[in-house]
Amino acid sequence: MHPPPATANVRVRRAESSDLDDLVMLEERTFDSDRMSRAQYRRHLDSDSALVLVASANHRNFLGTAVVFFRKRSRVARLYSLATQPETRGKGVGTALVEAVEAAARQRRCRALRLEVRTDNHGAIRHYERLGYRRIGPLEQYYQDGAHGWRYEKLLD
Ligand SMILES: CC(C)(COP(=O)(O)OP(=O)(O)OC[C@H]1O[C@@H](n2cnc3c(N)ncnc32)[C@H](O)[C@@H]1OP(=O)(O)O)[C@@H](O)C(=O)NCCC(=O)NCCS
Repeated sequence: MHPPPATANVRVRRAESSDLDDLVMLEERTFDSDRMSRAQYRRHLDSDSALVLVASANHRNFLGTAVVFFRKRSRVARLYSLATQPETRGKGVGTALVEAVEAAARQRRCRALRLEVRTDNHGAIRHYERLGYRRIGPLEQYYQDGAHGWRYEKLLD
């Protein structure tokens, strides 16, 4: 049986510099390669072309994060990173983060959101497909360790 829906309790806010320790710690817990450094996160926090979001719920201040990039003159936004704390997975936090990213992209008048995912990341692929993302192309040896990826896209209306 599924646990009760958690999405309703999830709050998504913009990350601040006080989140840097949590952002770096989650990055290290989550990804073995292609990690974002503290300096990169710090730059994204101050950038107009990036948005770093943080999810919290039920008095827990840091349950996950999403990073999205925007480009001037492009109506396609890029979901660059998505991660939730391992012990809170399957409770809707990832969904709430993706929905917040989509809302932010719509607000910036983007017509689509794209992302890349490793071909062996079955959990994330299922998650994105359930949220309406469609595979639009292969990415040969895309990752630092030589792994292949897929590019996905969702058209925003
Ligand atoms: C991919 C990832 C971000 C998903 O985050 P999450 O918080 O588990 O996401 P959700 O809970 O919203 O959804 C995941 C699953 O829980 C289920 N779920 C969603 N809301 C739920 C709820 N309220 N109650 C119970 N289950 C729920 C969904 O059905 C989904 O199941 P399925 O994908 O097996 O069909 C997370 O697994 C993660 O951080 N993975 C490691 C990093 C990673 O791979 N990032 C993506 C790189 S491209």
